[in-house]
Amino acid sequence: MIGFPSSVALDPGTANTLLYVKGRGVAVSEPSLVTIRTSTREIVTVGEEAEAGLGRTPQKFQTARPIRGGTISDLDLFDGMLHRFLRKAHISGLLRRLKAAIAIPSSMTEVERLALVESIRKAGSTDVLLVEQVLAAARGAGLAIEESRGRMVVNIGAGVTDVAIISLGNTVCARSTRVAGDEMDSAIASHVRAVHQLLIGEPTAQRLKIMIGSATPHHAELSLRVKGRCAEKGVPREAVIRGHEVREALSAPLARIVHTIREVLEQAPPELSADLVDTGIVLTGGSALLRNLDRLITLDCGLPVKAAPDPMSCVILGLAYQLDHLCLADWRRFSAAS
Ligand SMILES: Nc1ncnc2c1ncn2[C@@H]1O[C@H](COP(=O)(O)OP(=O)(O)OP(=O)(O)O)[C@@H](O)[C@H]1O
Ligand SMILES: [Mg+2]
Repeated sequence: MIGFPSSVALDPGTANTLLYVKGRGVAVSEPSLVTIRTSTREIVTVGEEAEAGLGRTPQKFQTARPIRGGTISDLDLFDGMLHRFLRKAHISGLLRRLKAAIAIPSSMTEVERLALVESIRKAGSTDVLLVEQVLAAARGAGLAIEESRGRMVVNIGAGVTDVAIISLGNTVCARSTRVAGDEMDSAIASHVRAVHQLLIGEPTAQRLKIMIGSATPHHAELSLRVKGRCAEKGVPREAVIRGHEVREALSAPLARIVHTIREVLEQAPPELSADLVDTGIVLTGGSALLRNLDRLITLDCGLPVKAAPDPMSCVILGLAYQLDHLCLADWRRFSAAS
């Protein structure tokens, strides 16, 4: 176990949870998944181990996601998963002197925030600092967010898309939608079922998105052979899915994301709008890796768009930066408040 007091940063995402330990770097980067025993709800495995069994667990076990749409959907499972991740990072919760900076989506309600803080405190933390994930993402993408110049960041994860215009280290206007990577996967699964009468699971739909998906027509038309269950006969079957089909399936969720970006642009004060002509839009979060997503947004909004390097790590890197530069007064002391 490491020396105390210790500081950690946590990005509890719908798909992936990342944990940074001050002085040691990113110690955990694993899927936000748990496998539980169905009868007792006891956690059997978490993270990568739980992912390996996704869609294949025997009936007495179940794979579950403690986080949905960017917020905790099952507190007990989240507590259990966090406890195991802290243990993996060799952090003992028993000493109860942990300082924790946590990324949260801007849409998180006060009730959800309190539940999260309570859970982090149970895991052994006295001081908790909640940071809007879009601000952390901007910092992690290397943007000089303390400047007065307006910048737009769009963080597209698995469960939530956060859009914000940032100036002087704060969000000036922001919107969030629960349309992100997961919705793209369900749209692909629905399309494959409707057109090919084939039932595929979430991991297969995600594979189609990553391997042949594109937001606008791609110069090389890709295709992928996938396996699933025939919707009519119930037997295992294969089908070849083409890139343009995946693109068609993605068009509705992508239109929602673009609409949210437009809503934020429409709210921007004119001076900040003018800045965006030069600073453009930076995409962060794993879904920023979707092919041609930058092109689609440029076509719609007319602004330069680029994905941050290593978009999946932007939030944790931004939190880590903040953690390394925090002074005591910055910590929001929930222990004192309650
Ligand atoms: N190459 C890729 N193309 C398209 N999507 C991708 C690619 N790689 C990863 N993704 C998607 O990125 C998402 C995961 O990103 P990320 O880890 O940023 O989400 P998260 O932080 O767990 O979720 P959230 O912030 O919404 O709670 C998944 O939906 C995954 O399918
Ligand atoms: Mg995220």
